[in-house]
Amino acid sequence: MVKQDHQKILILDFGGQYSQLIARRVRECHVYSEVKPFTIPVEEIKAFQPSGIIFSGGPGSVYEESSPHPARDVYGLGIPILGICYGCQLLAQQFGGEVVPAKNSIAREYGKTVTWFDNSCRLFSGIPKENVTWMSHGDVISVIPQGFASGAESAACPTACIYDEARKLYGVQFHPEVTHTEYGMNILRNFLLKICCCTEDWTMAEFRQKTVESLRKTIGNGKVLLALSGGVDSSVAAALLSEAVGDALICVFVDHGLLRKNEAEEIEETFSHKELTFLRVDAKHRFLTRLARINAPEKKRKIIGTEFIRIFEEQAKQIGKVDFLAQGTIYPDVIESGQGSSDVIKSHHNVGGLPSVVDFREIIEPLRMLFKDEVRQLGIELGLPESLVNRQPFPGPGLAIRVVGEVSQRKLKMVQEADAIFREEMDRAGCSGSANQYFAALTNMRSVGVMGDGRTYEYAIVLRCVNTEDFMTAEWTRLPYDLLERVSSRIVNEVDGVNRVLYDITSKPPATVEYE
Ligand code: XMP
Repeated sequence: MVKQDHQKILILDFGGQYSQLIARRVRECHVYSEVKPFTIPVEEIKAFQPSGIIFSGGPGSVYEESSPHPARDVYGLGIPILGICYGCQLLAQQFGGEVVPAKNSIAREYGKTVTWFDNSCRLFSGIPKENVTWMSHGDVISVIPQGFASGAESAACPTACIYDEARKLYGVQFHPEVTHTEYGMNILRNFLLKICCCTEDWTMAEFRQKTVESLRKTIGNGKVLLALSGGVDSSVAAALLSEAVGDALICVFVDHGLLRKNEAEEIEETFSHKELTFLRVDAKHRFLTRLARINAPEKKRKIIGTEFIRIFEEQAKQIGKVDFLAQGTIYPDVIESGQGSSDVIKSHHNVGGLPSVVDFREIIEPLRMLFKDEVRQLGIELGLPESLVNRQPFPGPGLAIRVVGEVSQRKLKMVQEADAIFREEMDRAGCSGSANQYFAALTNMRSVGVMGDGRTYEYAIVLRCVNTEDFMTAEWTRLPYDLLERVSSRIVNEVDGVNRVLYDITSKPPATVEYE
């Protein structure tokens, strides 16, 4: 954890999928924030000395007996509170209001919703009276607690905000942290700056300095092995660790054979010239053997995670006296692997995919608290080239999760070739800079086609291209039809075993970016 003396915002996590995103948004306003479970005792809250507290959303219903509640004394601390969705309902209930399940007359709301605001509430100062918010709730406030007023409404929800300016208590039914809420950032900024009186002093320069100090302290005279994939996260972690401990850092690149076409060679080319100890381990055969006949996505992820660690352990033994294993794990990896109180979406191979016993003294994850765009900012701060820092993300388990179902050498070749064509055509059409992530994946669907005069029964490639700010939500990209046509025609003509190309038009949620 980074120690600092700034004002801080505490986010109490009630199990919402967006708790980390709230933290991200707060930091985007240059105010330091941390997420802690709702169960922490009031003494711990006091010791943290937050300038404000945000209650996250959550899957529970406040009227259920087992629903999560914060330490009751939290309200006695006199600290401003903003409750979001479930957090808003909690405030309503705990101050004597009433929350009920949405029925026909007062409908549930999911998605973009036109909302009307009362600008005399400080939370909404300076935003248009009518704008769009993102709602996702099945319960509604039916009775406003005494001392509170209603600050916003939508067609289906007459109480979309409750607030009490005197006690600095605010609750919003919608999600200001989600980009679909048009003025969400203005609302958060109002809470942080106008209500909690925070100053905007959280910067990447500060994070770099504190993290380097703390890494030096932790590592001492030990040696660190870093799992370097050549992606943005592990490259930034390498630069940070190199600044902290210099020669004590050894970067190990495991070539698992699940990389894009020519990628292993490119990574070796990039890093073997830097002032770093760089080792390439050829483990293609080993991974393919372990993945044979495995279909289940989570099982594939766990196998890859375990195999990675075993290779690092072996390397560490060969090098000798390596105490620490470092990884470029970032915040979304942690939350989606179910480390908080929310559901496991996917076990990211460098988090939930870890085996339970790991033969290192400690695992170091210096970027664990950062979101992707913060990692990029840090990379620039550390002097990494923009071309590296702005690379599109590539998942740790690589093409294994872009081949749906069982992985084989033949299928990997298909997906590599199709992906290379897609990337080449995206570059040629000038579309690669505006999309945040795009790739080809191989489905496990075979279908009938006709080529020449003959019947074919081959696989379908799916193209995925998304625009996103934070990868927690994403929109499918409206690529030009003629580009899609060119890619489709080239793939079917040039890639053996493929007779059909699909374009994915699903956003996240409800889908995810990757297929497994
Ligand atoms: P999903 O599929 O979860 O992807 O919507 C969100 C972002 O995370 C990347 N991703 C991973 N990154 N290890 C990683 O380092 C993983 O196991 C992993 N799985 C997904 C994905 O490419 C996208 O950018």
